[in-house]
Amino acid sequence: MNRKEFIKLSGISTAGLLIGSSSQFLSSCSMSTMGDMNMGQSVSVSEGSFTVPLSTPQVVGNTVNLTAQNISTVIQGFGTVSGLGYQPNSILGPTIKINSRQSVTINLLNQLGENTNTHWHGLKVPPIMDGHPENVISAGSSFNYNFTINQRAGLYWYHPHADGTTAKQAFQGLGGLFVVNDLEESALNLPSGSRELFLVIQDKRISSGRILYSPTMHEQMSGLMGQYVLVNGNYSPFHLVETANYRFRILNGSNARIYNVALSNGKPFTVIGNDGGLLATSKTVSSLMISPGERADLIIDFGGLTLNSELFLISKTFDGGNSQGNQEFRIMKFKVNSEIVDTYSIPNSLSSIAPLTESMSTKTRQFEISNDHMMGGASGMMMHTINNKSYDPNRIDETVTKGAVETWIFDNTYGNEPHPMHLHGVLFQILSRTGGRNTLTALESGWKDIALCMPGEKVKVIIPFDGYSGKYIFHCHNLEHEESGMMGQYQVV
Ligand code: C2O
Ligand code: CU
Ligand code: CU
Repeated sequence: MNRKEFIKLSGISTAGLLIGSSSQFLSSCSMSTMGDMNMGQSVSVSEGSFTVPLSTPQVVGNTVNLTAQNISTVIQGFGTVSGLGYQPNSILGPTIKINSRQSVTINLLNQLGENTNTHWHGLKVPPIMDGHPENVISAGSSFNYNFTINQRAGLYWYHPHADGTTAKQAFQGLGGLFVVNDLEESALNLPSGSRELFLVIQDKRISSGRILYSPTMHEQMSGLMGQYVLVNGNYSPFHLVETANYRFRILNGSNARIYNVALSNGKPFTVIGNDGGLLATSKTVSSLMISPGERADLIIDFGGLTLNSELFLISKTFDGGNSQGNQEFRIMKFKVNSEIVDTYSIPNSLSSIAPLTESMSTKTRQFEISNDHMMGGASGMMMHTINNKSYDPNRIDETVTKGAVETWIFDNTYGNEPHPMHLHGVLFQILSRTGGRNTLTALESGWKDIALCMPGEKVKVIIPFDGYSGKYIFHCHNLEHEESGMMGQYQVV
C-alpha cells in the first residue's frame, strides 16, 4: 500500500501525518475511521483439546543438511497442513546439538521459490556466516555455513533472515533450535534425558489446510499473531510426567506474540537460564514474560502432584500495548503418570558470570524506539524506525570499535508497542529498566541477546563487542516490525 492509499483508507490528513511524532500520529489514529487499526486486539487464542502427545524435533550433530522447502505435515485438529520446513514433513528444523569449541558445518539448500538464508540467533559467528539480510541464497542454490562455537553453553536458535522474507518464512515454519553444551553446565547434573524438554512455542494462523501468512496492513505494522498456539509444531499438546523436577528449555519462536508463562495451579517455578546460558544463581517466580526470540531455561517441580492429576503451562494476562496480554490461555498440558520420590535440588550456584558495570563502558548510544507507525522512506510506506530511521542496507548506523564495551539505551518511553530489541554478533547484560515495569525480571540477569522494551520503558544494556569485525544488524524481534524497517546496521572496526 502506498502512502496515498493509506491516507485515503485511514481518513487522516496528510498534515497530521507529516508531523513526525508518534503521539500526534496515534491520536489521529484513534480519532480516525481505521477499522482494524485498533491495536491488534482481534486475534484471540483458541485452545485445542490437549490430546496430542508432545513431539520434539530430531537431534543432529555437527554436520547438518537443511533444505528449505515446502512441506506438508499433520497438525492434529487441522489435518494435513502445508507450510515451510527444513526437512520433509515437519515445520521445525532439526535441533542442532554440539559442544562449545566444536565446529559445525551446515549446508543449506534453498528449494523455496524465493530468497532465504539462515541466521544463528545468539551465536557469535563471522559476519559472512551470520545470515545478514543482504547475504541471500537465491532459489535453487545452496550455501555452506561453517563456524566454530566460541561461547558457552546455551539455547540458541536459527531462522531465516533474508530481506523481506524473514517474517513470512519464520511464521510458515522455518526455524529450529541450536543447543550448545559445555563442561561447566554438564558438571551441574541438571535434569536430563527424559527430564529435559525443549519447547518451541509459536502462534500460527491456519486456514484452508495451510499456515497462512497474509497480514493485514495493520498487522504488517503491529505484528502478526496467530490464534493457534503450537508447541514444537503440535497444537495444544500434552506430556506425561513423573512427580519430579524437569528442565524446560523454552523458545518463544513467535513473530509477535509475548507469553507470560505460568503454571495453572499458581505454583512457582525456577528460572535457571536465559538467552545466553545459565544464570549465576537461580530465581523463583510465579510467572515470566518471554518475548519473541527470547529463551527461558526453567525447572518445574511436579512433586506433590497426585497420580493422574493435570497441570497446564499457561500464558497469563499482562499489561502492555498491543501485545495481546489481555487474554489468558493454556499452552500445553502435563499429566502425572507416575508418583516417585525425587530428591533433586537445584544447585545454589549455576555459573560464573562477571557482572558488567556502566563504569566499564566507553560510549553510550541512545536509540529512540517510541515512534511507532511512522510514515517514511521514498516509497511512503508505513515504517517502524530506530532513531527515526528505517532500515537502509546502504547505511551504517553505528560504528563500534572492536573490543569496546558500550552502553546502549533503547527508549520506548513514548511508545505504545512492545519492542524486543536484538543485536546480532554479541551477547549483552541488561543494566536497568526505567518506566513501565521499572525492574528487571528473573530472565534478565546474565547474558542476553534480546531486551524487551514494553511501552513506557527505557532499557539500558551493556555490550562487549568482543566478537568479530564487520557488519552486523540490530533490530526489533517482532518480525513484522523488523520487516517494516525497525532494523539498523552496526559495523565493528
Ligand atoms: Cu533472531 Cu536478527 O534475529
Ligand atoms: Cu539474531
Ligand atoms: Cu518492535
